[in-house]
Amino acid sequence: MKALITAGGRGTRLRPITSTSNKHLIPIANKPMLFYAIEAVAEAGIREIGIVFGPESHAAISGAIAPYARQGLRFTLMIQDAPRGLAHVVKLAEPFVAGEPFVLYLGDNLMTQEVRKCIQQFEAQRVNCLLMLAKVHDPQRFGVAELSGGRVARVVEKPANPKSPYAVTGLYCYDRSIFEAVSAIHPSARGELEISDAHQYLIDHGYAVGYTEVSGWWKDTGKPEDLLEANRLILTQRDRIAIAGTLGGG
Ligand code: G1P
Repeated sequence: MKALITAGGRGTRLRPITSTSNKHLIPIANKPMLFYAIEAVAEAGIREIGIVFGPESHAAISGAIAPYARQGLRFTLMIQDAPRGLAHVVKLAEPFVAGEPFVLYLGDNLMTQEVRKCIQQFEAQRVNCLLMLAKVHDPQRFGVAELSGGRVARVVEKPANPKSPYAVTGLYCYDRSIFEAVSAIHPSARGELEISDAHQYLIDHGYAVGYTEVSGWWKDTGKPEDLLEANRLILTQRDRIAIAGTLGGG
């Protein structure tokens, strides 16, 4: 099992923070967001990690991940010439994945340790694709999964009238059938190859698309207030700091 982490995109909704920095290097609780994704897949036992980003981020990302490479993780860095969509990222990564099953982790998503569960369910359900879902009160902001008979029956990207409360998070497991999907679909109205269209292609062509729900919390960091909430969530889950002395002035 390999992992593919996305770290590209324009980050337009986070300007001006993203005017000078790749969104995925913004610190959350003092640690670049990308590091949470790397640690999440490493914690699930994955050692071969591909990261895809834009040309302007090469120096920053390769510098940032160097300590992890020294710890034995093997990185393959891939450049996407322009933001052409998440399904295009998958297409780019086909030589890196080389026919193995893999995890796709959107690097701007933060969640508690869910990668192991994603892999376990992918294997147990014997599906071609497994989507990690989260029940939310604002599904119209996300890809929305409609479920039937233990499978995903339909995926709709940011629907005005969602027919289900299940948002598609940024964590998926795939076998090689995803490459047929990403090669067959066409760019959306915003000119990108959408990952939801690839998922719908799999469903429409008889592939099994399973799902499981996040056990803990999940945060997509699209907006500035999401960054603040992500900071709060991470700090809350930290162990309390032991205080050996006495606090207070005097
Ligand atoms: C992408 C996917 C969407 C998914 C979301 C999760 O949206 O297209 O289906 O729900 O990630 O973070 P984006 O954040 O690129 O708008």
